[in-house]
Amino acid sequence: MSGGASAPRPMTVPAFRNAKVEGRKLTMLTAYDWLWASLLDEAGVDGLLVGDTLGMVVQGRESTLPVTLKQIIYHAEMVVRGAQQALVVVDLPFMTFQVSPRQAIRNAGRILKQSGAAAVKLESSAQQAKTIEALADVDLPVMGHVGMRPQSVRKFGRMSAIQRDAEQLMRDALAAEQAGAFAIVLELIPREIARDITAELSIPTIGIGAGPDCDGQVLVTPDMLGLTTGFNPKYLKRYADIRKAAIDAARDYVREVQDGEFPDAAHSHGQ
Ligand code: KIV
Repeated sequence: MSGGASAPRPMTVPAFRNAKVEGRKLTMLTAYDWLWASLLDEAGVDGLLVGDTLGMVVQGRESTLPVTLKQIIYHAEMVVRGAQQALVVVDLPFMTFQVSPRQAIRNAGRILKQSGAAAVKLESSAQQAKTIEALADVDLPVMGHVGMRPQSVRKFGRMSAIQRDAEQLMRDALAAEQAGAFAIVLELIPREIARDITAELSIPTIGIGAGPDCDGQVLVTPDMLGLTTGFNPKYLKRYADIRKAAIDAARDYVREVQDGEFPDAAHSHGQ
């Protein structure tokens, strides 16, 4: 990989896919509303993921499972309005695609039509290959997601279970590629397995907790900005401590209002 070349703007599905051939690392972050989408877009990310992590980091739930189709469309609409350059990819929530390929087409179509996003993502073992194929066949761009699949938390036992079955992971990844996925997220797998999958696939791999050899990386924005607490997996790098800055600022405001310091003359309209 040579890196350094700049991304085509605005990002499209073919350009995203071609980044692998061009040896350009891809960057993705999650976004859930217009404000953060516009900030992250300005920072130059290639892709914004309207992840179903919104269940946890926006709605305050314990897992991604309760997120509904209507909710993800609402958030995706806001993100699309904030994204001038980045490719917007939207998660298909739990039980909006597992029933049948027809159900997946109907719901992915609703997401893309109502939000204006470019692509959907679905959590996929090899069993979902038919669903990915059905979406790709009707030109609905789809990203796969193998390894730790949070929608299967009941099966895996916990959200942060590292997946180590190299053969199964390779099978799942190849199945997604062969079915027509344009890229694939690799979540929580050992770096050597992610490296081998990345070498084997012609579509980009986007890692989260999958080491440095993936074709790109994705992080959950509130985690990487230090807005969330109590979640400290080894792979997570916190690039800022915005939680502290926000609490400190709000405390200052509370104190100044209580002490009669704010608003002062400089922040008051005269006659
Ligand atoms: O929902 C999400 O935010 C995701 C990322 C963790 C990749 O799927």
